[in-house]
Amino acid sequence: MSASSSFDQFTYRDGQLHVEDVPLDRIAEEFGTPCFVYSRQALSSALAGFDAPFGSRSHLICYAAKANSNLAILQLFARSGSGFDIVSGGELERVLRAGADPQCVVFSGVGKSADEIKRALAAGILCFNVESHGELLRLSQLAQETGRIAPISLRVNPDVDPKTHPYISTGLKNNKFGVPFEAAIGLYREASRLPRLRIVGIDCHIGSQITEIPPFVDAVRRVLRLVDDLRAAHIELEHFDLGGGLGIRYRDETPPPVSAYVRALLEELRGRPQRILLEPGRALVGNAGVLLTRVEYLKDGTERNFAIVDAAMNDLLRPALYEAWHDILPVQQAGSSPMRRYDIVGPVCESADFLGHERDLSLRRGDLLAVMSAGAYGMAMSSNYNTRPRAAEVLVDAKRTDLIRVRETIDELLAAERLLDR
Ligand code: LLP
Repeated sequence: MSASSSFDQFTYRDGQLHVEDVPLDRIAEEFGTPCFVYSRQALSSALAGFDAPFGSRSHLICYAAKANSNLAILQLFARSGSGFDIVSGGELERVLRAGADPQCVVFSGVGKSADEIKRALAAGILCFNVESHGELLRLSQLAQETGRIAPISLRVNPDVDPKTHPYISTGLKNNKFGVPFEAAIGLYREASRLPRLRIVGIDCHIGSQITEIPPFVDAVRRVLRLVDDLRAAHIELEHFDLGGGLGIRYRDETPPPVSAYVRALLEELRGRPQRILLEPGRALVGNAGVLLTRVEYLKDGTERNFAIVDAAMNDLLRPALYEAWHDILPVQQAGSSPMRRYDIVGPVCESADFLGHERDLSLRRGDLLAVMSAGAYGMAMSSNYNTRPRAAEVLVDAKRTDLIRVRETIDELLAAERLLDR
């Protein structure tokens, strides 16, 4: 199963772009735009694609909820036996409400607050992925105060270069993430002496949108060296968490198929009885969703032509933040107007507010466009900038559509704010 096979669920039929069996223009009519549209089949097959290569090997796929944390998507994954990687008390609440078994939840992140830790201890999660000495001390303290045991892994920083965008590379020495490789043994020793901590594993995550296997293999090799040193120091582990980070095809990238990636990891892990955890985010949801948007205006500039659409950087921040490429496809395949080169931009008052530059399209005002590969870090990174209500989200399952997030209203958006009463 390749990471890009989810594209199979986004096809033209009779010149109309469909998600599974539903034409996108029908979704626009029923639910309005901008709207994120996901394919249930693409989500399920992506998860199955991670599970299958493990065969009977003990493992747990802990979906990184940050990539897309819609409750219905979490629920779908929970029902399919997925675990979760969370990074906040908010994500903990989400996965629990979506029906996750707390024993399938790992908690990552450099800044876990005391309240977040207490809530996770009370819920009885599988593991805290500890990112600093201070966090170890805080965990031990809070476990004592609450009369619980805190299961821990140390997130080690293997210092390998994932060769990805600097903003999403996390395993290098100069990153804020994890504990330095050299410090790990000392910290494990200390953890083994601290009250109410139970060492259960080791964890690493080297970055995101990684499109080749060698950095993952380098990281696992470094982690295994540490595992052997720990063993020599009589510290035994139950699981190895190898993080997420497998990339997807946005444009012309050629990420390895999920099965090849998992097999390469398993090859390194041969003969080790420990359970393997992975924390994929993007590879599970990225190509399972599109952002559906409508052209509001066509505007000819002196140097460029602009298609101003009703989605913006507040809906999909990736182009503005990382200059990320997302394919932009017309919903109606053969337009009647001449092909022209457009910058696809939103209504937000920032020059960085674009969804794509220099796209050749045949467009008319009112046309629908699908911004592809928008399932990961789309809605999850959306904001209300320019007081724009957040988009709706729809899940398609064969012929069926379910509204899984109602479009936000301006009243809801303003509800938390207060006028002064003096
Ligand atoms: N585990 C940890 C500890 C993480 O920090 C992340 C992502 C993941 C797993 C999942 O990584 P994935 O499989 O999705 O690559 N906003 C950026 C991506 C930031 C990723 C942050 N950490 C983007 O839109 O490209």
